[in-house]
Amino acid sequence: MKKIEKLYLLLTILVGLLVVSCGEKDEGKRLIMVTEATFPPYEFYRGADIVGIDADIVREVARRNGLQPVIEDMSFDSVITAVQSGKADVAASGITVTEDRRRQIDFTRSYARAQQVIIVPTGSGVTGADGLANVRLGVQHGTTGDLYVTQHIGEPERFSNGALAVAALAAGKLDAVVLDSAPAREHVSGNPSLRILDEALTSEEYAMAISKQRPDLLEMFNRTLAAMEADDTLARITETYMNPEGAEKKVKSDSGLRTRLADAWYTNFVKDDRWKYLLNGFLVTIEISLAAVALGVILGFLVAVVRSTHDQTGRFRLLNILCHAYLTVIRGTPVVVQLLIIYFVIFGSVDVSKVLVAIVAFGVNSGAYVAEIIRSGIMSVDRGQMEAGRSLGLSYGCTMRSVILPQAFKNVLPALGNEFIVLLKETSVCGYIALQDLTKGGDIIRSQTYDAFLPLMAVALIYLMLVVCLSWLLKKLELRLKKNER
Ligand code: ARG
Repeated sequence: MKKIEKLYLLLTILVGLLVVSCGEKDEGKRLIMVTEATFPPYEFYRGADIVGIDADIVREVARRNGLQPVIEDMSFDSVITAVQSGKADVAASGITVTEDRRRQIDFTRSYARAQQVIIVPTGSGVTGADGLANVRLGVQHGTTGDLYVTQHIGEPERFSNGALAVAALAAGKLDAVVLDSAPAREHVSGNPSLRILDEALTSEEYAMAISKQRPDLLEMFNRTLAAMEADDTLARITETYMNPEGAEKKVKSDSGLRTRLADAWYTNFVKDDRWKYLLNGFLVTIEISLAAVALGVILGFLVAVVRSTHDQTGRFRLLNILCHAYLTVIRGTPVVVQLLIIYFVIFGSVDVSKVLVAIVAFGVNSGAYVAEIIRSGIMSVDRGQMEAGRSLGLSYGCTMRSVILPQAFKNVLPALGNEFIVLLKETSVCGYIALQDLTKGGDIIRSQTYDAFLPLMAVALIYLMLVVCLSWLLKKLELRLKKNER
């Protein structure tokens, strides 16, 4: 096969990957619920599924109305935005009804009561709310616990979920955590070194959030919730999760390091098939990275050719301005912000797969860097070669294609390789739009086992292995190209 054919083949495969990843839509009218799923008993992972009181209630509402429920996990401070922007139909996430929130969205009738409680290490000197001033306090970012502490006590340390705050408390990094009562009880029941103080800080009601633009949907929810309350379905669902038979009691082990490590290995990876979070996350990371590299190379290549052609011949004035704007905007803003803008604003009201959103975001981002890398490659080729090609009677395009670009590509291969490595690792922010990539997979395990060490080490090791393989492949490619030179 000729080199060019191979290149086309590779591109076709990559573009195919891109298309496949976008086509995963199913039939039937869907009811999309968003939540932050480290909030047992309201929402948490059991294997790959999100279960819990909120999840079951919404599944039942969907069932009674002939809809197909879809549950998505994202950061708590995004669930209301997701409903507002039309990304999701309903946010069910143990959301407390507050006046401020009511200004943004509509609440359904409430379905549960809760309190903000204080968790401390057993034997702590903190015995009530008045002991909270000047201690290290942890909360989940954007929750009513966060609000309460910020307004009445002082700046807390904000964690992306309650489980992480509790883990930090258990590790001695905090003196107290303020959290909703039910999840607090769940977290503490697995941890004999922690306890909940009797005195609660607030008393609240949970309801689900629906966009103000969807009065019909709100009506449907209220009607169904009322019916579910009347026929005791709500009480039954709550009951199932509030009295979990065999709630995991962690036994404090005084056993040796070997057995403790083996235990930790078992709870973090083997138990409940938790390794699957890593495997699935790994596959998502690979899929996004490969397709984004392909998109980035195509975009970057086009932009580089436009820019250098403009520099050398003055053609493509308008296109050059556009490319310049693209480079400025993309390189001037952080990739997480771009990802969120593409997800919530650009694709705000269309229902596209999140994998596609991530591929577009990372591909468009990477394209800007690839463009400059390739442009520098083009500039590194001696100007005389263009003149030589032209004086042999080749057109500008032909000289570019067959003389300049192949050399440019060879020169920038190390820099391109570097860009791919950066891109691969940058995809770790996918969790912001609730994609379960490798990093998020480790986070989910961490939120279930309260163990930071093993999940983080495993995630780091997998990235490291990926990068080592990638570097090896790139090195082989470089050697190949060098051989062809002679
Ligand atoms: N009830 C609190 C609030 O509305 C915390 C809810 C957190 N929910 C969750 N799924 N993480 O702010």
